[in-house]
Amino acid sequence: MENILDKAYATEDFRRQGHALIDLMADYLAQATSDSKEVQAIPWQSPEKQLDYWQKDFSKVDTIDPLDLFRDVIDRSIQVHRKRYLGHQTTPTLPVTVLSAAVTALLNQGMGVYEMGMVGNTFEKLLTEHLAQKLGFSGEASGFITSGGSLGNLTALLAARAACTGIWHNGYVNEQKLAVLVSEEAHYCIDRSARIMGFGAAGIIKVPVNDKFQMRTELLESYYQQAITDGKQVISVIGCAGSTSTGSYDDLEAIAAFSQKYNIWFHVDGAHGAPAAFSPKYQHLVKGIEKANSVVVDYHKMMMTPSLSTAVLFKNGSDAYRSFSQRAQYLWTDQDTEEWYNGGKRTFECTKAMSALNVYTIFRTYGDDVFRENIERLYGLAEKFAELIKSKKNFELAYEPQCNIVCFRLRTASDVSKLNLAIRNQLLEDGRFYIVQTVLNGDLYLRVSLMNPLSTEEELIELLQAVEEKAVILTSKV
Ligand SMILES: Cc1ncc(COP(=O)(O)O)c(C=O)c1O
Repeated sequence: MENILDKAYATEDFRRQGHALIDLMADYLAQATSDSKEVQAIPWQSPEKQLDYWQKDFSKVDTIDPLDLFRDVIDRSIQVHRKRYLGHQTTPTLPVTVLSAAVTALLNQGMGVYEMGMVGNTFEKLLTEHLAQKLGFSGEASGFITSGGSLGNLTALLAARAACTGIWHNGYVNEQKLAVLVSEEAHYCIDRSARIMGFGAAGIIKVPVNDKFQMRTELLESYYQQAITDGKQVISVIGCAGSTSTGSYDDLEAIAAFSQKYNIWFHVDGAHGAPAAFSPKYQHLVKGIEKANSVVVDYHKMMMTPSLSTAVLFKNGSDAYRSFSQRAQYLWTDQDTEEWYNGGKRTFECTKAMSALNVYTIFRTYGDDVFRENIERLYGLAEKFAELIKSKKNFELAYEPQCNIVCFRLRTASDVSKLNLAIRNQLLEDGRFYIVQTVLNGDLYLRVSLMNPLSTEEELIELLQAVEEKAVILTSKV
């Protein structure tokens, strides 16, 4: 009988399948970037139908050629490279990173300890220090890469807590009440991080926003004083650059000044918008970021790498060692020394993918300029889209976009939120466009993240037409 394991490791099948897969992926990319109107951004199916399909597939006894499987998965998945993919902040990965991701899978580096990630750990140091320099930090700044903005924010806030309490070692004492100050528009992972750290709901002090959905920094003082009166210790004030729903940039200079006044750790969630620093035209949006104690930047959002890859940067590189301080004799001999090359000393993960290769590959292949162009093209397209919305009498723009996230709605019914929700659901079922929705000041808006630099005004004009057409159909049914 044939030995299945030996066959599975045989290289001839791999070579043949690999060549065919590259053709399959190149065809997918060519089709996505061509402009065939029939192609869908999302082949929508309900979760029940999807489950039913894969349950049947999984229970088949005959083995499948992986190429058929990959084709099937592509055909049944949302396709972020489509020009009409205008939904969440997921990037259409640069093709070269699809190649680097394959190398990452092949090498399967562990990263926690130097030997298991010699190149990757070195890349992390170089890449995070380069990014820190782009953001305007001095030579003291350094960082590492972790798996996603959510984990990155938690990691940075653990460092903030360690900087002013002994909780990591001693646990909570004497009913200590800790808190963070953050805009009410911050991503939910900030709230989640604070709860994970044991602050409870009362430990997330949400500062209201202005009509541009930016933190009202003039309220920081009173919210802080109230926190002190309530017996809370504020361990960090957090700025958004930009926020998730609306892409709004908080006034980081003002938050920095406040944090300096009270000597509070200043953290910036720049998961989406910090790469604006690559553009001379838009870098003013992140002015003040270089005063932060810590910053999180997702390479997998505006920097075109596959998920997940997040830089956690510290103004004072030594602070990076504060988050996790533990002994692991089987990995490194001395926990107390700062060894950038032993990744596990600073990250939550022990084993971690070498996602740094994807980022490094882009820098070495195209240089910094590819990021500048991406920012300028996408932010510029959002400005044009905003103008287009304003020029249409039935549409309302929720705010002047600061980046590539635009919220708007159609106002042709008395229950505007209900209408726009129904429109968005119809678009989802059609699948030609993929957009999402959000709630601002209690009302539902359509939300577009322009993540694909190959999208043009043409798709956006078409989108507004599709929204109006859906509204006509929906209102005629009532
Ligand atoms: C501003 C912001 N912070 C954090 C996150 C969470 O990042 P991740 O999805 O990489 O965990 C997001 C995700 O959309 C975000 O927009």
